[in-house]
Amino acid sequence: MSKNLYIKTFGCQMNERDSEIIEQLLAQDGYVPTDSAVGADVVLINTCSIREKAEQKVFSLLGQLREEKTSNPNLLIGVTGCVAQQEGEHIRERMPHVDLIVGTQQIYQLPEMLDRLTQRVSVREIATDLEANFAIPPFQKLLINAPPSPAPHGFRRFVTIMQGCNNYCSYCVVPGTRGREISRPMADIVEEVEILASQGVKEITLLGQNVNSYGMTNKVAETEVGFAQLLRQVAAIKGLRRLRFTTSHPKDLSEPLMRCFAEIDILCPHFHLPVQSGSNAVLERMHRKYTVESYLDKVNRLRQLRPDIALATDIIVGFPGETEADFQATLDLLRTVRFHGSFSFKYSDRPHTRSADFADKIPEEVKSRRLQEYQTLQDDISLERNSESIGRKVEVMVESGDHTAYRGRTPINQVVHFAAEGQSFAPGDLARVTIDQAGKHSLKGRLSSDT
Ligand code: 5AD
Ligand code: SF4
Repeated sequence: MSKNLYIKTFGCQMNERDSEIIEQLLAQDGYVPTDSAVGADVVLINTCSIREKAEQKVFSLLGQLREEKTSNPNLLIGVTGCVAQQEGEHIRERMPHVDLIVGTQQIYQLPEMLDRLTQRVSVREIATDLEANFAIPPFQKLLINAPPSPAPHGFRRFVTIMQGCNNYCSYCVVPGTRGREISRPMADIVEEVEILASQGVKEITLLGQNVNSYGMTNKVAETEVGFAQLLRQVAAIKGLRRLRFTTSHPKDLSEPLMRCFAEIDILCPHFHLPVQSGSNAVLERMHRKYTVESYLDKVNRLRQLRPDIALATDIIVGFPGETEADFQATLDLLRTVRFHGSFSFKYSDRPHTRSADFADKIPEEVKSRRLQEYQTLQDDISLERNSESIGRKVEVMVESGDHTAYRGRTPINQVVHFAAEGQSFAPGDLARVTIDQAGKHSLKGRLSSDT
């Protein structure tokens, strides 16, 4: 008999991929995904602890689920992901209505754990060892050969190429929640992408906390190659139309990798290169191991190799000790690079990070004001950047819609809405669209006559 599974995912693409894996794993035991906790047999919250706000959302949702469980005592509630990894103990003590706590490296145990709970062999299941056991390759093979789960965007998939992080940026919780860096063997990755491409997947995003150091540390097997070689191998797989990757650390961005943007056709000219701050003093305290100048050198080299490349970044405002001049330097950097987009955040203390103990914390109202200022400037620049597309013909990969209006994305990830007057497209199809209007978050256009 089928059972209803509701997964709520917070945080990054790594978590989204983990949720997909969980869905596929549990599909083999008859679990069917639903889109509401109401009436579900199992609710899993796949959590993020990167910033305080993300973690608070998890705890408030867990509070709401307590009531759901009162009206449906058979409901099983589980917590997975980074908060489970770091706060497992705390959840165990404070949240008796949570039946299942699963750390970032234990998701493959979920079917057995749920089985024990439903058979009432146990009343609570907890697994949060963080030992980089890297059980992924064999399991992923098993999973990708299973019937595909009804993922919303079947034409576009993530593929994990490595786990963990060795960088220890002073503000970051990831080494604590995801463990040490470890790379999957290239043959496994290539095999996974080949299978996905043969199932009709058109766009692949290779995922890792720092893909630039792929194959450099803690090799699982003979990952004798670097990331640039991996990209070339994956790009050669038949059927793929677009290739992307995330995330990169500027200090490890090598010339061979930058050259890929000039030499690999299907590699989208869209690059997320988190800079975090425009002040060298702040970068040093963040332990980022690069300077604003060396970052700008790489930006220039990338633009030399691929003039149409669109750059996006991450910014933290209000890092401990950030002066007004430091913040102005961040605004200057934004004006210099003119990023197409930024993910910008107020600094928050995270457990077991070095910056949590730094002096000179910035008051909340100063952080809010700086964030607002940064985002206003970025919005203006994003609008200018998007306006550059007006009158141009762009290639759009269709995501959804019908003949009256479609939605899709350009190679640089801009969202495009377009009317198609009688023509029909399936998700994953490519359309040529002429852009008529630009907003800060999306573009509008019409089908080009030569489509
Ligand atoms: N406070 C605020 N932002 C953070 N990030 C990571 N840790 C913190 C923190 N403690 C941001 C960084 C990173 C992105 C994923 O989240 O900008 O690149
Ligand atoms: Fe959040 Fe980082 Fe964990 Fe991703 S790896 S879920 S961003 S804490």
